[in-house]
Amino acid sequence: MADQNGGRGRWDPGVQSYASMGYYAPDYQSKDTDVLAVFRVTPQQGVDPVEASAAVAGESSTATWTVVWTDRLTAHDLYQGKCYRVDEVPGRPGEYFAYVAYDLDLFEEGSITNLTSSVIGNVFGFKPLKALRLEDMRIPVAYVKTFQGPAHGIVMEREYLNKYGRPFLGATVKPKLGLSARNYGRVVYEACKGGLDFTKDDENINSQPFMRWRDRYLFAMEGVNRAIADTGELKGYYLNVTAADMEDMYERAEFAKSLGSVIIMMDLTVGYTAMQSMAKWARRNGMLLHLHRAGHSTYTRQKTHGVSFRVLAKWCRLIGVDHVHAGTVIGKLEGGPYTVKGFYDTLRDNHIPMNPRNGIFFDQDWASLPGVLPVASGGIHAGQMHQLLDLFADDVCLQFGGGTIGHPMGIAAGAEANRVALEAVVKARNEGRDLLKEGPDVLRRAAELCRPLEVALKVWGDVTFEYTSTDAPDAVPTVTR
Ligand code: 3PG
Ligand code: 3PG
Ligand code: MG
Repeated sequence: MADQNGGRGRWDPGVQSYASMGYYAPDYQSKDTDVLAVFRVTPQQGVDPVEASAAVAGESSTATWTVVWTDRLTAHDLYQGKCYRVDEVPGRPGEYFAYVAYDLDLFEEGSITNLTSSVIGNVFGFKPLKALRLEDMRIPVAYVKTFQGPAHGIVMEREYLNKYGRPFLGATVKPKLGLSARNYGRVVYEACKGGLDFTKDDENINSQPFMRWRDRYLFAMEGVNRAIADTGELKGYYLNVTAADMEDMYERAEFAKSLGSVIIMMDLTVGYTAMQSMAKWARRNGMLLHLHRAGHSTYTRQKTHGVSFRVLAKWCRLIGVDHVHAGTVIGKLEGGPYTVKGFYDTLRDNHIPMNPRNGIFFDQDWASLPGVLPVASGGIHAGQMHQLLDLFADDVCLQFGGGTIGHPMGIAAGAEANRVALEAVVKARNEGRDLLKEGPDVLRRAAELCRPLEVALKVWGDVTFEYTSTDAPDAVPTVTR
């Protein structure tokens, strides 16, 4: 230790390297109960990567910039975050994956707010780093067990809705802003009646002058109830309860419940504490809880900065939402196939083995915490139904906003096109047909018997969004998108 620090001891006063203070511990054997994290560290020019990584471990746990005597009053070697491994990022000069272990005692039980105040609290502003990104975390079972987890989870959602063996279908009402309550309710009714399971508010529709929340809830639920009566199927509408304070959020949620809604939604912008409060409310009140990840791309999208969505997905599963947006691969929003597969596995599976190709750095065991239903939304349409089923299988909610409401024959026709396309490709899949090869043909044949689908394929069939992904996992050098 003295050697790394110019011959000085751990307790000599002044500024010492973080590595020499014990925040770099290459021989440390992590414990099953440790919280593990891997950061992508980009040190400033001339900063030693090991020291930069030790500083990340230090600043995200107990350290400050100088030796403090009060360390001696604590079990400091237990509480120190320990960087136990530093690897170069393949094909990305100047970037390093730094693995850090944190003792479980550093975190309050069942609090994502507390966890994040440590692991992303101060450390991202630390001057010796040019950039920092939290790539992945291993949440130990001992910590998992202190969280409620999803209010209901995928299995219970299917039971509430009595729908099995296929993805759910939904749509976001468009335009995002400006509709009056009655016109809004019309969109909800037509989309649900046409064959969708869900309709939903968009992230930025809360309670604006053109439509107050109470009026929207009333007309939208009227639409849902009429569609249920017309079709004999259960339907839902995610009422956005996002508001400026918890009192308003609870008031909106209670009103949604009093109208018989099975589902509500909130935006990520409300913050972790508010999200966790709503998850507890949702479990107590038998209400499914959808989360719109509004704002996440400001810190999840660029690979050298912020927090990977796979980490956010883990936090959301612990917090306890039943749904979260997780990408489409083929739609209009960011997300390559490997990365998005990593997100879906993280949300749905009980045990996720390490898989660097998909950006999964650690084994993750959820100890039977219910699964979160991933939602695929953003620029998808009926002509891609076979690809969507091939990518995501059944436990997903496929949402078509423009791809329902933009249908030339009207909203109900748009919904019908999506439902018929889905049922056709599910049937083909169940018959053992190769979806990627035969999917377009399956859809064409279904369209012969369904004019709305024929029109949808004609209008949107060729629409694709082919752009280079900005968030490819770099843990193995071969991955290109
Ligand atoms: C996403 O975050 O993936 C989508 O933007 C959300 O889509 P939605 O607003 O239609 O639900
Ligand atoms: C949005 O843009 O807010 C939604 O993500 C999805 O809507 P879309 O299905 O019309 O792209
Ligand atoms: Mg949206």
